[in-house]
Amino acid sequence: MNAITIEGIEKSYGKTVQALKGITLNIPQGEFFGLLGPNGAGKTTLISAIVGLVKPNAGEIRVMGCDIRKNPTEAKKYIGLSPQDININNYMPIGKIMEFQGGFYGVSVKESRRRAEELLKYFKLWDKRKAGRYQLSGGMQRRLMIARALMGKPKILILDEPTAGIDVELRHELWTFLKQLKEKGITILLTTHYIEEAERLCEKIGIIHQGKIIACESPLKLIEQHRLHEKAERSGAFQFVRSGSLEEVFVALTGRPIEEASKKSGEEKWEALPASLL
Ligand SMILES: Nc1ncnc2c1ncn2[C@@H]1O[C@H](COP(=O)(O)OP(=O)(O)O)[C@@H](O)[C@H]1O
Ligand SMILES: [Mg+2]
Repeated sequence: MNAITIEGIEKSYGKTVQALKGITLNIPQGEFFGLLGPNGAGKTTLISAIVGLVKPNAGEIRVMGCDIRKNPTEAKKYIGLSPQDININNYMPIGKIMEFQGGFYGVSVKESRRRAEELLKYFKLWDKRKAGRYQLSGGMQRRLMIARALMGKPKILILDEPTAGIDVELRHELWTFLKQLKEKGITILLTTHYIEEAERLCEKIGIIHQGKIIACESPLKLIEQHRLHEKAERSGAFQFVRSGSLEEVFVALTGRPIEEASKKSGEEKWEALPASLL
């Protein structure tokens, strides 16, 4: 059985924004799957549909065989989510936040305490258990969101841009945690716009661009397939020589580097600040 099955998902916001244009995707149990795409590609919308926060206009999603629309309560039991925007209660010590989360999943008080301690220690947050959100660094807040997502013993961990906005050192530390979690057999779905992150962590990468999956393979296969494609081009009119990286695969498929594609089109149209303002 697949951990997540997605069939023909479409989602529009209003009449003009077509965020998902027919996504079909299977994620087997135990896989570390990366959804790689620039800002606005549709990553968060797809994740929101998987966890039942967004209602698609068409298509079907099953989580461990459970239809998220027909059987949301059961489907959600399998999932732990670390959302893109930090949503940690501002007024509660983080130890309590963890214990409360256990309650949401029906874990007993005693077991919640035990598990909160275990997870806080694992994520190097135990010393901070009495601290509030604003006493934590950005990296600690990200770690807490992942620890909290694991309170309900999920079979599937979904991480929406878990390393966005944190520095390189902390990013590498977080990668180590995630690799260890994968070794434990948990299915991980991670979204990112960092190519290096997808390449280092994920067994399989789905490249999402303008609401469509334009490639879905292991990082090595993506690069290999692209090389074959290049050879064909080379024998014709084109004479490309590339070293073969995922970054180049992305450019070949979308026509732009990911950072450039991530920039909001509106930003380019901004005019200079009026001199009188300064
Ligand atoms: N609640 C919303 N209302 C209207 N448009 C939205 C909403 N959420 C996302 N969008 C639009 O849908 C598209 C996909 O957004 P999103 O799923 O957030 O992409 P990503 O997570 O890859 O950056 C974008 O064009 C975005 O502006
Ligand atoms: Mg997003």
